[in-house]
Amino acid sequence: MVKTIIEPFRIKTVEPIRMSTRREREGWLRECGWNLFLLSSERVLIDLLTDSGTGAMSSEQWSAMMRGDESYAGASSWFRFEQSIRSITGFRHILPTHQGRAAERILFTLTCGPGMAIPNNAHFDTTRANIEARGARAVDLPIPAAAHPEEDHPFKGDMDLGRLENFLREEKGKVPMVMVTITSNARGGQPVSLENLRGVRRLCDAHGLPLYLDACRFAENAWFIRTREKGQGDRSPREIARDVFALADGATMSAKKDGMANIGGFLAGNDDRLARLERDLLILTEGFPTYGGLAGRDLDAIAVGLNEALDPDYLRYRVASTAYLGDRLHAAGVPTVRPTGGHAVYIDARGFLDHLDPLSLPGQALACALYLEGGIRGVEVGTVMLGRKDPASGKDLPADLDLVRLAFPRRVYTQSHVDYCLEVILEAFRKRREIRGMRIVEEAPTLRHFTARFEPE
Ligand code: F0G
Repeated sequence: MVKTIIEPFRIKTVEPIRMSTRREREGWLRECGWNLFLLSSERVLIDLLTDSGTGAMSSEQWSAMMRGDESYAGASSWFRFEQSIRSITGFRHILPTHQGRAAERILFTLTCGPGMAIPNNAHFDTTRANIEARGARAVDLPIPAAAHPEEDHPFKGDMDLGRLENFLREEKGKVPMVMVTITSNARGGQPVSLENLRGVRRLCDAHGLPLYLDACRFAENAWFIRTREKGQGDRSPREIARDVFALADGATMSAKKDGMANIGGFLAGNDDRLARLERDLLILTEGFPTYGGLAGRDLDAIAVGLNEALDPDYLRYRVASTAYLGDRLHAAGVPTVRPTGGHAVYIDARGFLDHLDPLSLPGQALACALYLEGGIRGVEVGTVMLGRKDPASGKDLPADLDLVRLAFPRRVYTQSHVDYCLEVILEAFRKRREIRGMRIVEEAPTLRHFTARFEPE
């Protein structure tokens, strides 16, 4: 039997990559203050900054865009969008938003405030920032394996049910909801099992709390459930996704990931009273409830994209292409989060640069080193993005992990691009002792990683 997994698509439109030299990149790094977010994309060879909004749309999606109905109210695009989401999630109320964080802001504005706390397997940066902007606490309760990058676990995104139970008891009256992020982006793109979600549901029921999913990568999560969870191997990703959503009371979603679109998102749920309040807030800041800050053509692209994301051929290729890089790096001794995640390979920068202290920002140093070596743009997920300040001294505290995430845009790069990345990373690994730490010279009070400036130590 032929074992090679091929990209299950042909390429119809291409976008040239501008080649660059190490010397050019050295100057560009200085110009952007060693912050890859501040780099112009033309200066990037392989852009693995994010899988968000960076995917290639299919010919079916482009056709659907032409069908886009740009009516202000009641556009047919909206009904196709709503129908597509309802058939996958089963939720009663669906509100379109311009991206995931808009859904988060609306949800948290209405449900949380000072003194409250929202537990999650691992909050991602925007979720955490939106909760904290309300004066509430965003608390991570991952299973212990998540703290050990090298440890293999089929569902390393699972929530620690024991800690959740204690947390709900101790924080009684202060918790407006429990959230679970599928897959766990802050912790390696790791999936959450159906069994774990059922356990979270039971605890929510025992405490009378709603369960919300941060569902950005629900299709990739469904594929991992199919391939790794007992008894799920014969089921379609769609059936599994349906079971997952049936356990929840609502979801926030960035359609820029498993919506296969370049922009968009939604907030969904079954609570009639809350949905009315959400709708009113949506009108205030996003737009009328049948477009919510999106063009009709965007709604149509998402309606089609959500279904394409559940195609087993696509998901098999998607997960295999990420594992292709992750497994080869692992075999060559490069420390990575094991097993390889769905949308990204996460390099353990603390292990890679074990001569650096966490406060020398090994993730940022490594991200810059990979850019310098081969023009690859990844992102630090560690002390810069998720670190806290010591309330007493105002000094930085290290995050639990310092990772560099190499996130793969959907249907964009081919195997030779990935082979190139492998070579570049292995070259940087050979020269790792030469890589110096970084310090922050300028930063914003929230979500500082987007705009901070750095310099080598
Ligand atoms: N939740 C998760 C788990 C995410 O990964 C993201 C975005 C969001 C919420 C917010 O969605 O960007 O549409 O507002 N993650 C991107 C990333 C930015 O690079 O991982 P958004």
